[in-house]
Amino acid sequence: MNILLAGGLGYIGSHIAVSLLENGHDVIIADDLSNSKIEVVDSIKKITNKEFKFYNADLKYIEKVEKIFAENKIDGVIHLAGYKAVGESCQQPLMYYENNLITTINLLKCMRKYGVDLILFSSSATVYKASNTMPLTEADELGPCNPYGRTKYFIEEMLKDEVASGSNIRAIILRYFNPIGAHESGLLGDDPNGIPNNLLPYISRVVTGKLEVLSVFGNDYPTPDGTGVRDYIHVVDLADAHLKAIDYMQKNKDIKIDFFNIGTGKGYSVLNIVDAYNKVCGGKVKYKIVARRSGDVAELYANPAKANKILNWHAKYDIEEMCASSYNYENKKDAK
Ligand SMILES: NC(=O)c1ccc[n+]([C@@H]2O[C@H](COP(=O)([O-])OP(=O)(O)OC[C@H]3O[C@@H](n4cnc5c(N)ncnc54)[C@H](O)[C@@H]3O)[C@@H](O)[C@H]2O)c1
Repeated sequence: MNILLAGGLGYIGSHIAVSLLENGHDVIIADDLSNSKIEVVDSIKKITNKEFKFYNADLKYIEKVEKIFAENKIDGVIHLAGYKAVGESCQQPLMYYENNLITTINLLKCMRKYGVDLILFSSSATVYKASNTMPLTEADELGPCNPYGRTKYFIEEMLKDEVASGSNIRAIILRYFNPIGAHESGLLGDDPNGIPNNLLPYISRVVTGKLEVLSVFGNDYPTPDGTGVRDYIHVVDLADAHLKAIDYMQKNKDIKIDFFNIGTGKGYSVLNIVDAYNKVCGGKVKYKIVARRSGDVAELYANPAKANKILNWHAKYDIEEMCASSYNYENKKDAK
């Protein structure tokens, strides 16, 4: 298939691009570089030895989206383009609503106009209500507690409405838990512009001396060691879930919309991750405990049984492999 990867130069998108190219698909990547770097184009080509088209395009502008659809025969869209920092979304909600919703509306309008029927949307575990008991199933109650999560929730609702309208659009929604890790080549990884908001890129920058110390937000949660528990998943496993999701939608044309949790089903605390990272880097993670961060919940982990069964997808990597690949990426980046 010829897949448009919207936001495809970012952390997750670049790994999906590699998986798709290595499995016989063609890709077109569109990204405005707001949170990614142009060098990623070469890294993807180097890993896969394959060519693809790249559009430096802000997808908030319909004419830019239209140009991509007019110039290419697209069979499906994977929509990753958006802002993703929970804290920033609380300070600048309109920026989040504008970017995350308008890019989606533009993509859907062009899909309708150019007869493209399949969209795979990058949703998030943050769409679930915090009061649900763990592990989360797809049937659990939705109720995001911050503007970022609400953009994901509204987009899911938008996709439901679009499908229900009788248009040809078919949607598959993957609710990612906490992607970490990097490609084994060390050429792709999580390299956000500015100070990282996520745990692993932050730790990686601490152990390589670019940041001083990791702040662990709260050690008084009702969890085994008091720090927050999340479901960390290797980004390569996550990318593989996209291949399986496309395959599923291709083989089951009667499915109009479906939702899947993409996590390992295991919860690890922040201090578990610090320990695992210390094992691979020789104990260099400096951290301090600070106050809880608003918007954080004690625990969040998935029941991935539906994706295991229906998509035939299973996470393969363990937590030490995830940390080792991050460390490898950070070191290779520094050596460049
Ligand atoms: N990383 C996570 O922890 C996580 C968890 C759940 C869901 N998600 C979602 O998965 C998607 C990908 O996440 P990621 O971690 O790769 O983030 P990322 O920031 O690395 O990738 C997103 C990409 O979209 C691009 N982009 C943003 N706005 C754009 C616009 N208007 N036009 C064109 N490109 C635009 C950015 O430049 C970036 O390259 C996001 O939608 C995110 O919300 C991520």
